[in-house]
Amino acid sequence: MSMVEHHCCRPPDHSPLLTTQAVLNSRLRCIGCGATPDAAAQNFRCTACGELLEFFFPGWTSASPPFDVTTLKAMWLERRQSTGKELASLDQSGVWRFRELLPHIPVEHVITLREGNTPLYSLPRCARAAGVDHLQAKHQGMNPTASFKDTGMTVAASSARQDGFRWVACASTGNTSASMAAYAARGDMRSLVLIPEGKISWGKLSQSLDYGALTCQLRTDFDGCVRILNELVRERPIYLLNSVNPYRIEGQKTSAIELLEQLGWETPDHIILPGGNLGNSSAIGKALLEMQELKLVSRLPKLSIIQAEGANPFYRSVREFNGEKLEPMIAETRASAIRIGNPASWKKALRVLRATGGEVEQVTEFEIASAKAEIGSDGIGCEPASAVTLAGLKKLRRRGFIRAGDSVVLILTGHLLKDPDFTIRFHRGELFDAASSAAGQEMKSLQRAPVVIDADLGAVIAALNAADRNS
Ligand code: F0G
Repeated sequence: MSMVEHHCCRPPDHSPLLTTQAVLNSRLRCIGCGATPDAAAQNFRCTACGELLEFFFPGWTSASPPFDVTTLKAMWLERRQSTGKELASLDQSGVWRFRELLPHIPVEHVITLREGNTPLYSLPRCARAAGVDHLQAKHQGMNPTASFKDTGMTVAASSARQDGFRWVACASTGNTSASMAAYAARGDMRSLVLIPEGKISWGKLSQSLDYGALTCQLRTDFDGCVRILNELVRERPIYLLNSVNPYRIEGQKTSAIELLEQLGWETPDHIILPGGNLGNSSAIGKALLEMQELKLVSRLPKLSIIQAEGANPFYRSVREFNGEKLEPMIAETRASAIRIGNPASWKKALRVLRATGGEVEQVTEFEIASAKAEIGSDGIGCEPASAVTLAGLKKLRRRGFIRAGDSVVLILTGHLLKDPDFTIRFHRGELFDAASSAAGQEMKSLQRAPVVIDADLGAVIAALNAADRNS
């Protein structure tokens, strides 16, 4: 994008309603009462019933699809090669090249870092470990700030800029804040980050500092940060960029559209992803349902959501309460990105889980750590929260929900380098103090601690020989 000069300003009056732009193609709707407001309140909840809002596209009907799908698919692919034209920055973005399925935002307001366009990798070693023939990973850690958050942030931050906000803010376990800070900086807006003190990785914290955010480490957990932020946006004209913001969900839809494009529009049998605040599950599920409605795909994959055992409110909601309620909990897991006890988007996620026939599963800290090392051993790697997908796949395979011949795609949400501390402690055997248990033994076979030796050729050759014998 040619960066437009943007002189940020507060919205003229401090009204609690945001304009939803001249929405040509999309409208807001409450997921609870079905109200269709013209504008969203600053907390993006329905003013009538308090539920979350979502975008829908009144012009789309399955009876007469608004697009010729063959033309659309060809155009989306062609845009990747686009150069030099006014819209080249949009075309080169793996989000905005799918703009026909997004709310309209005029190009002069769009903030893009050429997000999306992330690779789809095969995982042969992980496939063997899980007992499936066809396993691939869509690596959303290959985005500009190294997590999937960029795909939603480009849309939501652009909407903040369009509405003339000077400040944007989020509560975060680290990735949303890194992404928001980057997009705010590119869009000449100030950003406020609320993160739980001592509970996010240094990699993520360092990003928001470098991108110039006002970073507040609150003495609470993620859910406590969300509470404060919701109070703050009632007091001040600050644009909320958590995934309750429906623009975030729209942007995050594109990873599923791009995935299907990469698969030649052949639907896999299963897609598996981590569940934290449950925005991403909602987004990917929404994309799948919309693609089916538009006849871009002929069938749906089963979308399964995996949580850490210590941060499993959605798992318990589905298993214990049949999705009728969600009991918030104090969350605890070393996969700090998904240390969330009161997920905002659980009702949206439940809807797509049911619509696609997917499953929920929970995995232990040992299972997460081993799965992460296995994904690393395929030469790919990811952050701990992403690894719950492989750990969950193994469980779903053992339960028979996934069969050996099924095609499976894992959504890897964050890059390996997001949390090097976890990785180093794992390989040094410092992550757990249960090395004698069966799980500990299994992990040992995956650990590759660094070897400290003299600067001596003989010592290096001895280390090489030892490694050769053990491989
Ligand atoms: N994986 C990673 C790497 C994440 O950072 C998150 C969420 C998730 C999975 C879960 O996604 O919340 O949409 O269900 N991170 C948020 C953050 C909460 O603040 O960075 P979700």
